[in-house]
Amino acid sequence: MKTFVAFLLTFALGSADINPRVFPDNFKFGVANAAPQIEGGWDEDGKGETIWDHLAHRHPEKIADGTGPDIASDSYHKYKEDVAMVKAMGLDHYRLSIAWSRILPTGYPDKVNQPGVQYYKNLFKELKAAGVEPMVTLYHWDLPQPLQKELGGWLNESVADLFAEYARICFGLFNDDVKLWITINEPKQVCQSGYGYGELAPAIASSGVDDYVCSRNILLAHAKAYHIYDDEFRETNKGRIAMVIDTIWYEPGSDSPADIEAAERAMQFNYGLYGHPVHIGNWPQVVIDRVAERSRLAGYPKSRLPEFSKREIDYIKGTYDYIALNHYATNMVNASDAPVKDTGYWNDIGILTWRQPQWTGGEGGWFTVVPWGLRSLLVWLKKTYGDIEILITENGYPDKTGVMEDDDRIAYFEGYLSACLDAIYEDGINLTYYTAWTIIDDWEWLGGYTWFMGMHSVNFTDPGRARAPRKSAGWFTDMVKKRCLVKNCVK
Ligand code: BGC
Repeated sequence: MKTFVAFLLTFALGSADINPRVFPDNFKFGVANAAPQIEGGWDEDGKGETIWDHLAHRHPEKIADGTGPDIASDSYHKYKEDVAMVKAMGLDHYRLSIAWSRILPTGYPDKVNQPGVQYYKNLFKELKAAGVEPMVTLYHWDLPQPLQKELGGWLNESVADLFAEYARICFGLFNDDVKLWITINEPKQVCQSGYGYGELAPAIASSGVDDYVCSRNILLAHAKAYHIYDDEFRETNKGRIAMVIDTIWYEPGSDSPADIEAAERAMQFNYGLYGHPVHIGNWPQVVIDRVAERSRLAGYPKSRLPEFSKREIDYIKGTYDYIALNHYATNMVNASDAPVKDTGYWNDIGILTWRQPQWTGGEGGWFTVVPWGLRSLLVWLKKTYGDIEILITENGYPDKTGVMEDDDRIAYFEGYLSACLDAIYEDGINLTYYTAWTIIDDWEWLGGYTWFMGMHSVNFTDPGRARAPRKSAGWFTDMVKKRCLVKNCVK
């Protein structure tokens, strides 16, 4: 019946695709960014080198335009301007990350860098004055370089302990300022890309072996930080904490059982690799079985997937207060087994991905504009892990021209926000936050300054890094004000 009413409403308004409903009162709008992508000041006021500073300085050829995050959008100096823009857009929250190496320059907890602490204190003060809630990520890919060099980074379990110490320091320092915490951003990118395919820093290529070791350690790191928060800070902080997991939506490429199974397998390897240990306990069974079998067939003495002990499984299980989701795109999936001798994460999954010819896409190869994919993903999360509050912590659209009349970006936001409304009203998903990536152009990792994702442009050739609103900034501001996507909103 509800579906029928919504259909009639949509039909009556003459806009076939856009949901006309008003967002619920508790729904929050915000924008996200990350320290290494906007702050700059890479070695200022005592900040230490990160694995990304290191990669960009030593291997500029790996970055599309050969540039690093040294200055980026210069938010280290211009944060007041950024906060003023967030306020002007009427946003509820601002997702940012703390740079580990600004607080602890070497990564070790031996010396807290006061100017670094002060920078974030100032930023939180500014946000408070603007009435904007900070959503704070402790780790957005920027491992302090000494921990990579001396310990091997996330391949060493002691880095999980060092992360936990750093987290404890942050919880203590910013206990009065932050109530919404994120431990780690996108562990799959950190591990499967950083230690698997060697694309992202620290650019280690050992897919199907070291990336799983990283996955295990990063899950332990997250769980340790969660328990520290739970045991020592929750009572005074009265906030919430979770890990951000990202995934593409994998849609079966046909209705054959093999393709349906392949799509579910892709979801389990992509989201479930991290979601299952946190929500259900241990790796997903399909991951355990596939990696064990493929390891055996390839002659490995044991599975390439490291085990968790019973104690570790219980320790990681339940370490969430909400689901934090980053999502950008959708792929179609067919089953396709890779030869067993080809070790590698994607070979373990055994799929072929493709896009529908009518899908439009942004830059970067993997961006497809498929709003219904988000809706399907939200429904999958509820079906797989239960009725848990979901916060979208990233969703956005890149282009390579930096066009100011960014109608494609507007269409993207409109479509994905409409899918959020469908999920809320049609599917009963407890979705409460939408966080757009992003408010200003930033340093897009391997894309350098060649991908534009901001609702405001940044002039990267201007030493003042001047910001200017794109058309999408105006559209988003109006949408937040109206709290819906069409002219005649329906309560
Ligand atoms: C990351 C961001 C990144 C965005 C767009 C996400 O995977 O969390 O840091 O900029 O994608 O590429």
